[in-house]
Order: sequence, then C-alpha cells, then structure tokens
Amino acid sequence: MIRVQVPATTANLGPGFDCLGMALELYNIVEFSKITRGLVVEVEGEGAGNLPCNESNLVYRAAKRVFDRAGYAPAGLRIRLINGIPVGRGLGSSAAAVIGGIIAANRLCGAGLGTREMLTLACSMEGHPDNIAPALLGGLVIYASVDGEITWTKIDLPPGIKAVVAVPDFVMNTRDTREALPQLVTMRDAVFNISRAALLVAALQKGDLSVLGTAMDDRLHQPFRSGLIPGFKKVVSAARLAGARGVALSGAGPTIVALADDNQALIAEVMKETFRESGVNARSLILAPSP
Ligand code: HSE
Repeated sequence: MIRVQVPATTANLGPGFDCLGMALELYNIVEFSKITRGLVVEVEGEGAGNLPCNESNLVYRAAKRVFDRAGYAPAGLRIRLINGIPVGRGLGSSAAAVIGGIIAANRLCGAGLGTREMLTLACSMEGHPDNIAPALLGGLVIYASVDGEITWTKIDLPPGIKAVVAVPDFVMNTRDTREALPQLVTMRDAVFNISRAALLVAALQKGDLSVLGTAMDDRLHQPFRSGLIPGFKKVVSAARLAGARGVALSGAGPTIVALADDNQALIAEVMKETFRESGVNARSLILAPSP
C-alpha cells in the first residue's frame, strides 16, 4: 500500500497572486492499494458524501495522467482519502488532491517523475501554481512561470509564526472568481503589488514582521473578490486589532488568513466572532507552517 500525506496551502498571501503560497500543518492522506479489478474510491473526513467516488475523482484523474505517461494500467485500484482540508474554501484542497494523486501514482507504478515534471503536470491540471508548489515542496514557495519554463525557490519562515485561518461554511469556486478578475491592470497597481510582494518575502525571510500590515495588501484580486464575502473588511480589521501582523484572503477565498507570532487564540476567536456578527458561520484554526 502507498500512503502519501499532502498539506493544505494558503496562496497569494495578499500581493503574490499566482506566485506565492505557504504550506500549512493540516493534511489530506491519500492511500493507493492494488486490487484485483475495478476502481474503488473511499472518502473520509472533509468532502465525504460530496466528492465523487468514481473516475471523475480528482485524485484518480491526476493519478491516471501519471499511469498513462508510464504506460501502466492497474488491474484494479483502491483509493482511500482521509481528508483534513476543507473543500472549496481557499486552502488548496484541489491542489492537495492533484499532488496526492500524482505522488501516489508515481510511487505505485514507478513512473520516475521528478519534482519538475510533477510540478509541471500538476500546474497544467490546476491552472495556477501557488497551491501546487507548496503542496509538493512544503514551506513558503515563490514560483515563476513564463512560457512553460518554471523557476521556484523556498524560503525559511521565522520561528513562532502561525497562520490563523477563519473558514466560512460556504464554498467559493476558484474558476468563477478568477473569471471575474480584470485582464489588464494599471502600472500603478502593478507597482503596488510588486513592491508589497518583494517586501513580504524579504520580511518573512528576515523575521521582520512589523511590515506585514503593508506587505500583505493587494490590488490585483482582493478588491474584486472581497465583496463576495460578507464581513470581509470587518474580519480583517478585527484580526489586526487583536494582534495579527498581516491579513489576507486565503487563495480565492472565502477563508481569511492572518499571520501572527503572538495572540493567536484571541485572533482566532475574534475572526470567528466577527464573521458571526456578519451572518457567516465560520470555524477558525491555528496552523503552523508545514516544512
Ligand atoms: N492564485 C490563485 C487565485 C489561488 O487567487 O485564483 C487560488 O487558490
């Protein structure tokens, strides 16, 4: 039996649209076993009862891409998914499924795919790299992709930093919210984001958390998505007041992520409560970065 653990991820971190993502200590487990015939997919935990248990399951679809490349056809396959990552909330559940399927299939059939090949394949399925890369590599990953050439690097995170995530009980479809984003941005907004993304990476590497309030601001996607999340601005302000260093939409949302090196329990409570005052049921979790 093959067993793979894949972390949740928070993408964008404010200014790093489609290029920054961080792995978090919240995991999906993917198990593959050979059986005599057919496909059996079992889902436990998050998504149980909702995720498809047939050939359209995303873990299977990712695995199939690896099997096809290797010219391998299993007589039968049992896939068991034990999911800790909430589905469709901006915490990288689909990237975890794709990466879990690719790693497990690569091991099962000995396809021999390396890191670069797995990243390229996974990103072609997902459409953007900033959940995929940290789901595979862990840590905080900066990813650049131009004309198919990919370059990435990983930075160390300061000790003690945690992500406090407030996870609303409704789903946002990443594809739909991406389609609502503008195709062109002004030079002014591009500079706004580039400067903050650079500031954020340097600040996290040095442990200079005092600049995160500015560094996690964004003009490329949050202004167009935040209106879909009741209470967004209030939750961000409340988290900052409670001691968060920086706050942003997690991926495409609706989860909001606050980075904090202190007061995490208070921040978690305040974010949940502020969502509740805006009519949104949310749970909050305090998660360390996953190495
Ligand atoms: N960069 C992607 C987006 C991340 O914002 O659409 C989705 O999790």
